[in-house]
Amino acid sequence: MVLVTELPLATATTQLKQLAGQTAVVTGASKGIGRAIAVRLAQFGASLCLVGRERQTLDSVNNIIGALGASARCYIADLTVDAQMSQLVDTLQAYHSRIDILVHSNGFISFGSLARTSVDELDCQYRANVRAPFYLT
Ligand SMILES: NC(=O)c1ccc[n+]([C@@H]2O[C@H](COP(=O)([O-])OP(=O)(O)OC[C@H]3O[C@@H](n4cnc5c(N)ncnc54)[C@H](OP(=O)(O)O)[C@@H]3O)[C@@H](O)[C@H]2O)c1
Repeated sequence: MVLVTELPLATATTQLKQLAGQTAVVTGASKGIGRAIAVRLAQFGASLCLVGRERQTLDSVNNIIGALGASARCYIADLTVDAQMSQLVDTLQAYHSRIDILVHSNGFISFGSLARTSVDELDCQYRANVRAPFYLT
């Protein structure tokens, strides 16, 4: 498997910037699938809004995107917390007149037996994996 971030810049620059002028919000942008999608969208010319809980990891993705000549802003929010989601929406609306692309890549899976999984853990997964995408959409 080739990571998107490992693709030569020429691969991206030979493609037209098909998403130039478009704004993309990517949740879970700090790691894994969301990070790869965010970088790929930047390669296609989109302006990125990177959402995650950790400043440092988001900043590292922001640096990669900057090196591609694209722009990104980082937004810190725990998407299991309504007040933080609400604040995120308000901030996005304040900074961006419109959102063209919304990628929900935040979330997590708890491994373990049903008997050992608490209701609180189930609720947390539901909030992150199901409720947050619904709320933000
Ligand atoms: N990788 C797979 O093969 C696979 C297969 C099926 C489904 N999935 C699902 O696809 C999603 C992405 O997978 P992945 O492999 O990219 O996972 P990952 O590498 O663990 O990344 C998860 C992302 O979600 C963010 N996140 C987690 N909880 C959050 C919360 N409460 N609020 C805000 N952001 C939160 C993390 O950000 P911070 O930790 O920086 O805040 C991180 O950026 C997950 O929901 C995963 O369960 C993945």
